[in-house]
Amino acid sequence: MNKSFLDLASDPHQYDSVDIDWNKEGNTDSPTRMFYRYYLLPELDVKGKNVLDIGCGFGWLFPSLVEKGAKEVVGIEPSQKSVAFARERYPSHNIIQSTLEGYRAERKFDVCVAVLVFEHLRDLKASLKQTRDLLVGDGKFFLITIDYDYAMTSRFNYKMDVEKVDPVTSVTKTTRDWGMVYDICRMPSAFIEAGMEVGFKEAKDIPISPNMDTIQFVPRYRDLIGKNVAHLLVFSK
Ligand SMILES: C[S@@+](CC[C@H](N)C(=O)[O-])C[C@H]1O[C@@H](n2cnc3c(N)ncnc32)[C@H](O)[C@@H]1O
Repeated sequence: MNKSFLDLASDPHQYDSVDIDWNKEGNTDSPTRMFYRYYLLPELDVKGKNVLDIGCGFGWLFPSLVEKGAKEVVGIEPSQKSVAFARERYPSHNIIQSTLEGYRAERKFDVCVAVLVFEHLRDLKASLKQTRDLLVGDGKFFLITIDYDYAMTSRFNYKMDVEKVDPVTSVTKTTRDWGMVYDICRMPSAFIEAGMEVGFKEAKDIPISPNMDTIQFVPRYRDLIGKNVAHLLVFSK
């Protein structure tokens, strides 16, 4: 039976596929990670806090979290390849091979972070509830997600196909030079509404748009200056 785009996007082993070389995109100093770090770091207050990086990939964020004073950084990540890479690169951090759905923590975190991971989580409300449950009483959740309209737009030399799921959700299949990825793309309003439904008190939407500084990391974003390519959503418990 043919799998739907939604099945393929939410397959937790997608990043172990031979179709993806995540090293090109997910490594610590890749242009796009530098781009996201620029927008995320000023918002993150992790001094003295324990932090969970959900879908940590290659662990690119760990050094910045430590530099910002995090007391402890834990990563969860379902991809075997990514876990092996992250463990080798960052042996002092606890990296657990798990999906968010399968993660049974016996403790809580002050801060959770997820960068471009909810694109692979099928049940948005359940995933936000699970993240909220992982936080301490006044904990915060920092989520970066691709901008919906940007995700629907044909760009660069990518080959793209789109399947619409509902008025605020579509799944894209994007083929780039480093691989083919299926992503569930949702409007920020879908996240905020679901976040409020599962009991977050507040959600802030910080649009991420390339500027003169960040096109130095990603020159191909030059024509996108001032346009939204992603959102940093900050949820407070
Ligand atoms: C676009 S990559 C982002 C990785 C990393 N956060 C980064 O910014 O480089 C998406 C990540 O989500 C992970 N992922 C997929 N399904 C997941 C799930 N159910 N729970 C947690 N992580 C998941 C993938 O294995 C992959 O590492």
